[in-house]
Amino acid sequence: MTTIGRRLVHDSDGLNSGVWPVRADHFVTPVDLFFTRSHASVPQLDAGTWRLEVGGVVDRPRSFSLEELSRAFPRREVTATLVCAGLRREEFLSLGPLPGELPWGPEPASTGRWTGVALRDLLRAVGVAERARHVELLGLDQVERQGHRFSFGGSIDLAKALSAEVILASELNGAPLPAVHGFPLRAVVPGWIGARSVKWLGRITLLEEQSPNYFQSKAYRIQREINPRDLRDVTAGVALSGVPLNAVILDPTPDQVIPAGPVRVRGWAIGSAGRPLTAVEVSPNAGHDWVQARFSTEGVGWTWTLWEAGLELAPGRHTLAVRATDSAGTTQPPTVSATWNVKGYGNNAWHRVAICAE
Ligand code: MTE
Repeated sequence: MTTIGRRLVHDSDGLNSGVWPVRADHFVTPVDLFFTRSHASVPQLDAGTWRLEVGGVVDRPRSFSLEELSRAFPRREVTATLVCAGLRREEFLSLGPLPGELPWGPEPASTGRWTGVALRDLLRAVGVAERARHVELLGLDQVERQGHRFSFGGSIDLAKALSAEVILASELNGAPLPAVHGFPLRAVVPGWIGARSVKWLGRITLLEEQSPNYFQSKAYRIQREINPRDLRDVTAGVALSGVPLNAVILDPTPDQVIPAGPVRVRGWAIGSAGRPLTAVEVSPNAGHDWVQARFSTEGVGWTWTLWEAGLELAPGRHTLAVRATDSAGTTQPPTVSATWNVKGYGNNAWHRVAICAE
């Protein structure tokens, strides 16, 4: 891992990075502070010649230029937090190595205002066949895995694809999508792991089964049992969809030295599958006692909620912790051993931050 400017960069090509520390005061993340997660180099696409192919089990397969999309369908906007499935993976490393996986901390989560057209408007226009169950989203980037070159992709189930919140976005925060975030068009699947929000969208295919793409059938799957013949194999696991309930402390940061006395703790939390939060609690002592946090900016629909809490800390070392509850009564597990899985996805154990007050 290297630091370039304000970014922690997790690979030699600079494709996977996040600003650290994450600012606790931006509800919508400015584009220059947005995390980036790409499995291959950014394709250079020409908006003038780019087309979106739509096919599979549909009544009227067809392709669209950008202009045809914006002429054919109403403009839609959704504010949504994108959460990478690898968020907080580094905490799993206390239980052992996770070879080949990026050791993300809390950086790969950002909130954008996404504008484009609704996927469901487009699906209705091409006519979804009775037997369609899944919608495959395929990018125009070229990933190399196991000696093969192919596009990044994945699928979402038809019910989610037909929900109002799933957008094919051409703008982020009111400006054309930057190349690194999927220019000219990307999917935004609010409430689902970031991997299903496919960038540089080139093809949408209606399927009877889930996508056979590597990133649906061989990665981004939760599997808790290790395959002794291949320690990184998760094909027997379950494809990830919704992001779990989670809460993160952003301020203070790990190992920060702060004045003893009253301390303001800030961070974000998000409900599972877009559910509103009912509580965020912060502990001054690793989970023995808890105080209620206040929502400083309450989430709207598919976004995080920013929270803050006041603690009184004596001089010495302290481990702060945070946990949230959502409207379904879902709570977070206290430790990472409860959520550990072979590729280290979806860690939502209580987030702990050790600091020093003096
Ligand atoms: N889409 C394509 N085509 N290629 C990718 O590598 N990465 C996915 C998703 N869409 C990816 C992609 C992952 S894992 C995440 S978390 C988000 O994009 C990150 O989006 P961002 O880079 O705009 O923050």
